[in-house]
Amino acid sequence: MNYRRLGRSGLKVSEICLGAWINFGGKIEDTDTFAVLDAALEEGIDFFDTADVYAGGKAEEVMGRWMKSRDRRTLTIATKCRWRMWDGPNGEGAGRKHIMDACDDSLRRLQTDYIDLYQIHGPDRDTPAEETLRALDDLVRAGKIRYFGWSNYDAEMIGESARLSEKLLLNRAISLQNNYSMLVRGTEKRENPRCVQEGIGLIPYSPLAQGLLSEKYLDGAVPAGSRAEGNEGLAKRLNENLPTMKALAEFAHARDLRLSQLALAWLLHQPAMTAPIIGATRPEQVKENASASGVKLSGDDLAQIETILKGPEAK
Ligand SMILES: NC(=O)c1ccc[n+]([C@@H]2O[C@H](COP(=O)([O-])OP(=O)(O)OC[C@H]3O[C@@H](n4cnc5c(N)ncnc54)[C@H](OP(=O)(O)O)[C@@H]3O)[C@@H](O)[C@H]2O)c1
Repeated sequence: MNYRRLGRSGLKVSEICLGAWINFGGKIEDTDTFAVLDAALEEGIDFFDTADVYAGGKAEEVMGRWMKSRDRRTLTIATKCRWRMWDGPNGEGAGRKHIMDACDDSLRRLQTDYIDLYQIHGPDRDTPAEETLRALDDLVRAGKIRYFGWSNYDAEMIGESARLSEKLLLNRAISLQNNYSMLVRGTEKRENPRCVQEGIGLIPYSPLAQGLLSEKYLDGAVPAGSRAEGNEGLAKRLNENLPTMKALAEFAHARDLRLSQLALAWLLHQPAMTAPIIGATRPEQVKENASASGVKLSGDDLAQIETILKGPEAK
């Protein structure tokens, strides 16, 4: 496993991060969650992402139980707040009251004294940006969080918050967590250049397009128990993207790679990239995905992948 600095910060993390969404405290049993987390550690993954809203707090709780018997210093734990966790007008948002109470709740569920990376889960246009920044800066100074970052933010908001931090002499955000994969590239042209400019590390979510960029959907069918089962939106995307997925898989197999390895290695070659955040329901998936670390793609490889991604008209 290779390690990278998270943006321009001094925090070093594995270049593959493991996320909790849907699976931990939800789709898979706690014993299976422990097996997935153990497999990640064995592969050298030391960077883990969750959020207060995942499984209504249960994802943080199960991670907290797992972390208890580990050396906390060797783990980088990221979580998030902003979406609704309790009733009332301050039960959600990026205002000081919500952030402070949500942070205390996450610390309790995770059974830890500090959060390494605290992220605002999505923009809150009802709250002045300065208030959000000051609350996060205070949490850093109080030792409750070590760093903070944004999720689902656009380029303009990233730039504005960086200018505000400079002006007010506050800590700056060090990371951006947006949806980004070979099949979802909106953030690439808009946010990637801004992240490079601001020294912000990208930690993209759903880097395998929720599993579509793995071997198991290549015959066009939805396997029993997979995330696409009963998920009409994902099944539709499978149909739409199947020719591209097949062409990418052919390219990967010719280089002795699995499609998931290629998809993650491709992200790791993009500007501002620190660590794609994978999800996994089984230890084997973690092992396969972790092996993308260190895969080298040449300029020619990247150009050929671009041609595949642009579709038949680009050829
Ligand atoms: N900030 C946000 O708004 C936001 C939104 C979404 C996610 N996230 C974060 O990003 C993390 C990852 O998102 P994601 O789960 O969508 O990522 P993903 O890696 O694109 O998809 C993960 C899912 O794909 C399947 N899979 C993964 N590796 C596989 C392999 N090698 N072979 C076959 N199937 C495989 C598994 O599902 P099945 O086995 O069930 O098919 C797995 O749970 C989340 O846990 C969360 O931390 C953040």
